[in-house]
Amino acid sequence: MRASFTLFSVCLYALLSSGTSSGDDRRWLMSLVDLVELDYEDNCEQRATASWNELIGAPKGLAKKLERDKAFGILSRQQTAEVKSAVSPKALASDDLLKRRVKLLLQPGDTLLEPEQWIRLVTFGNTALHKLRFATDYYCGTQTNCTLRELNRNMAKQHDEDVLLRMKNSWEQKLPNQKEYLEHILPLLRNASKENGYKTVEEYWDSLAEYEGALLKVREIWDYINPLYVKLHKYIALKLKGADAVGKPLPVHLLKSLNGDDWSNIIENLLPERADIYQKLHVHLRLQEYGGLKAFKQAENLLKFLEIGEIEPEIFAESYFNGSCPTSIVDSCKPNKLRFVTCGDISLVNYIEAHEAVTKLKYKITSALHSNNTYVLREATRYSAIYEAIPGFISLLSLNPHTLDRAKLYPLERFNYNPNYHRLVLQLIIALRDLPKLNYYIAADEWRLKVLTGTIPSSKVAASWKEFRANFSMLETSDKDILGDSYVLFNKPFVGKFMGIILKYQIYQSFAEELISDDYDLVKHVMEKNERLIEPMIRGFSAKWPEMVSDLLAKRENSLEYTGLTDYFRLLDEYLDNQLDPSTDSNDIAEYVDPPETDVSQERVPDENDIPINQNNIDLKQIPVDTNGNIMDNVIDTGGDNHNKFSFETSTVGVLEIKNPVATGEHNEETRPKEASYNTYWWIGISVALVVIIALVAIIARKRHSHRKQLERQRRENTVA
Ligand SMILES: *[C@@H]1O[C@H](CO)[C@@H](O)[C@H](O)[C@H]1NC(C)=O
Ligand SMILES: *[C@@H]1O[C@H](CO)[C@@H](O)[C@H](O)[C@H]1NC(C)=O
Ligand SMILES: *[C@@H]1O[C@H](CO)[C@@H](O)[C@H](O)[C@H]1NC(C)=O
Ligand SMILES: *[C@@H]1O[C@H](CO)[C@@H](O)[C@H](O)[C@H]1NC(C)=O
Ligand SMILES: *[C@@H]1O[C@H](CO)[C@@H](O)[C@H](O)[C@H]1NC(C)=O
Ligand SMILES: *[C@@H]1O[C@H](CO)[C@@H](O)[C@H](O)[C@H]1NC(C)=O
Repeated sequence: MRASFTLFSVCLYALLSSGTSSGDDRRWLMSLVDLVELDYEDNCEQRATASWNELIGAPKGLAKKLERDKAFGILSRQQTAEVKSAVSPKALASDDLLKRRVKLLLQPGDTLLEPEQWIRLVTFGNTALHKLRFATDYYCGTQTNCTLRELNRNMAKQHDEDVLLRMKNSWEQKLPNQKEYLEHILPLLRNASKENGYKTVEEYWDSLAEYEGALLKVREIWDYINPLYVKLHKYIALKLKGADAVGKPLPVHLLKSLNGDDWSNIIENLLPERADIYQKLHVHLRLQEYGGLKAFKQAENLLKFLEIGEIEPEIFAESYFNGSCPTSIVDSCKPNKLRFVTCGDISLVNYIEAHEAVTKLKYKITSALHSNNTYVLREATRYSAIYEAIPGFISLLSLNPHTLDRAKLYPLERFNYNPNYHRLVLQLIIALRDLPKLNYYIAADEWRLKVLTGTIPSSKVAASWKEFRANFSMLETSDKDILGDSYVLFNKPFVGKFMGIILKYQIYQSFAEELISDDYDLVKHVMEKNERLIEPMIRGFSAKWPEMVSDLLAKRENSLEYTGLTDYFRLLDEYLDNQLDPSTDSNDIAEYVDPPETDVSQERVPDENDIPINQNNIDLKQIPVDTNGNIMDNVIDTGGDNHNKFSFETSTVGVLEIKNPVATGEHNEETRPKEASYNTYWWIGISVALVVIIALVAIIARKRHSHRKQLERQRRENTVA
């Protein structure tokens, strides 16, 4: 109301002052935009209250939310029309921020649908989600009537195939009508594209993702990631169902998943022999009760450590920990007025996701603060990969050995003892979450585009999701399980989330590559360079995200690359190769699979059956054997650590492996100037050590090179196939 009245005055003012100069045009447009945003802001607060009540299951929550969402579409159309009438090239000249705001206001996305169509969309989506969220008669095995949260919790624990299938079926029965979706909801995308000025839905989605040719890029990237996905899939089939099942579609309920987008629940079937770190994490999460608020507090601790800042206590105090996961954030568009609903369950996945959620909160708070709380710069309908990638990156850091140590989940000494075994397990944990997501995201976008463009004949559409999922994802799903997802129900593209996952590994890689210094704590290093993360948060939606990528990565390039991800998972990739085809690299397999039972005790003797890269340790130990013991320790500790830590995790393997031992040598020279009598021995020791290291590095590099070639070959074969 307030805003509308002021708007009236502004219009009057504009009418009266005829013959405006371009400065006046600009000022007028500016005040109009400010007012439009104020209207949005008022509406945002009311909508947030309604959303909140719906999420926590308050009486009439759904009805109020529907009402608010309907009103929002109508408001958005009006405001867009108003801004359109006031825009002129003159008024926009030389003010980039204003240009940006106007652009976002003029293309608000699906709200431009005709009111009747918009209402149909939000009614369908909200009603479906509400039903799924609050149904109390899911099948949970022993318990017959249970909630969604109990269903999720029990699915993770259940081992009986038939029970799992019945659980999944009880969820499927709650999904909305598929025919209605295909006939009346999905096609709205064509209309929304048109209203926003795009010829095709793909162009429209590209524009919402603000990346030129986003979907093309995503397809291209997937071709390079698919081989790893396929390997993980084959390994799972092998472990769960034996050699005969390899290469065939896996039923999603066997993956203890409702729609196959996350395979974390089957981790215990997949762990390599040495999975000490997983057992400890599992136990310590429970001992420390890192679920609900405590998980969020722990995530906040990581943000504090990174000096990204803390979360205002009121936000935690007003949030609700007795709802369902994944976490939903509700933003009231007022400074620090954010709340979230989550589940209080303790699990590794929830712990990791708490880190993402807390970072998203911080992201929103920071953008809002620096956009002067401008509505459209904080709530734009754009799918920013950076908004997904930075929280994702923080969640990767949550499993960093140093973070685990600080969180008292796994001691660093123990980690350093047999690091690659632990690293492998951590990579598996992360891969089971991210690879199925990437696949699901691209599958869901591709399938929807295929349906919309008529590539799939209409007679076959009804069964086509199942078929597509079997072809593309090697998963056996139902025809309609895609309808449990809010992004699908509201016709939103996943392409931004896909690109976010890719980008998070690029961020990881960019920081990890810089660690050629003495400081090997990646988290500390990120803290020292945290402005790279904070800057995009500050800029929020004031620029397109691709423009910020180059600063974020501290590199010249600004494009998405798959190599960050494939390099991150190299250790897992090699492990899967060995597991699937023990003949390929018999050396590795011997050392991986059959470690002696030299219990992972506290002593600092390197394990002789460590994987090849660790043989550096052994040799280093042998060489300077008759020199000063402390020096030896130094060489082993820093040099060895280094190899272990980064050799598999960055693309600059060669650089790191060659540089570090030398750095270690210099370091020793400086710190031990007094040991004159040992000097000669020491130098001989070091020279021999260096020669051996260089030889080893050369061998490893060659092996790695040939391995890489092999991977490339496989990839090509896979792409061709
Ligand atoms: C489960 O709920 C249904 C209806 O919601 C009811 O008919 C049935 O008796 C309930 N079963 C149990 C075991 O509580
Ligand atoms: C798209 O818009 C056209 C014209 O306004 C309308 O006839 C059609 O029904 C709309 N599509 C859907 C799925 O509502
Ligand atoms: C959490 O929700 C469940 C039902 O969803 C209810 O039985 C329980 O009392 C709630 N606990 C708290 C602390 O509100
Ligand atoms: C916020 O306001 C300040 C001072 O009014 C201005 O300098 C700055 O450009 C504004 N930032 C945005 C993003 O609007
Ligand atoms: C699945 O693959 C088969 C054989 O390659 C193909 O005929 C079919 O059209 C594909 N289905 C979908 C939905 O892509
Ligand atoms: C990315 O970099 C290329 C050249 O390296 C440049 O042409 C392009 O405009 C940049 N894109 C963005 C969004 O900054």
